[in-house]
Amino acid sequence: MTNKIIMGEVPGAGPAQMDLAELLATRLLVQGNSGSGKSHLLRRLLEQSARLVQQAIIDPEGDFVSLAEKFGHLVIEGADYSEMALHAAGERMRMHRASVVLNLEGLDADQQMKWAAAFLGGMFEAPREYWYPVLVVVDEAQLFAPAAAGEVSDEARRSSLGAMTNLMCRGRKRGLAGIIATQRLAKLAKNVAAEASNFLMGRTFLDIDMTRAADLLGMERRQAEAFRDLARGTFVALGPALYRRPTPVRIGTVETESRSAGPVLAPFEPPSAPVHELILAPLPAAESVARPRNAPATPPPDLLSQLAAHGEVQANVAHA
Ligand SMILES: Nc1ncnc2c1ncn2[C@@H]1O[C@H](COP(=O)(O)OP(=O)(O)O)[C@@H](O)[C@H]1O
Ligand SMILES: [Mg+2]
Repeated sequence: MTNKIIMGEVPGAGPAQMDLAELLATRLLVQGNSGSGKSHLLRRLLEQSARLVQQAIIDPEGDFVSLAEKFGHLVIEGADYSEMALHAAGERMRMHRASVVLNLEGLDADQQMKWAAAFLGGMFEAPREYWYPVLVVVDEAQLFAPAAAGEVSDEARRSSLGAMTNLMCRGRKRGLAGIIATQRLAKLAKNVAAEASNFLMGRTFLDIDMTRAADLLGMERRQAEAFRDLARGTFVALGPALYRRPTPVRIGTVETESRSAGPVLAPFEPPSAPVHELILAPLPAAESVARPRNAPATPPPDLLSQLAAHGEVQANVAHA
């Protein structure tokens, strides 16, 4: 059995291969601006390797749940479970060698970080007898390993950054191969990015990201200017699982559907009635009762008794 998968083609030079065994040992960083084709690339990688290696996907946008239909991944809806349950799920997916998509769509940033940290922690702490190889794909990795403190709580940031650092720095021995994608290298914690030995660099506009990409690839900054002109779906590949010199790769097609395509431009008819009537029509009576601008500072005197009465009704219902 071969360890090689085909990621697409090197224009004018045939198929672009990636060595899975090497990837497991040396990890991968994908960077490119929004819309450059990172999620498509990850999907291609996951589809091509789904039958060869176990997979875990940390999916902040619910983009990868469609892998379940074709490849049988278990989709865990993060919003339905507690942190503790996710920690256990991370451990158990290794015991049972099941591929999993952790869908974190709909959670706020703080929760996304804590939930991802719990799941990754469970995988990381699985007992030694379950250290089989797993590709651990984290899309939008700057959300989980941000370079700077943001609006999230310190606690969330610390646990998520710790889990991502463990994945990238200490995961290899445990069979965990981190594959992380980010829109902005400058927003990704340096120690997390630095542990990847394979790179796929896509279209990048900002100088600060280009500079960091050039540094990681060992290219001159002047050469890195070329990242600006890359077409969607074309990435410069470098690393032991890919190519020894920076090589452009056009990512191939995928079999499962993405939900990330976003709104599509389509012609539309003018509104059927004058627009102010449609947008500013009076509300139905119940909704239109104006709320007082200044709520009374103290509750009206009978509110407490109303609450007490409500409590009694509830208690009676409960005992009925
Ligand atoms: N190699 C490709 N071939 C065909 N379509 C692609 C390719 N790469 C990206 N696309 C399409 O371009 C759009 C943006 O790609 P996506 O992977 O979501 O970008 P990103 O994750 O970098 O924001 C999607 O509709 C995707 O299907
Ligand atoms: Mg994406």
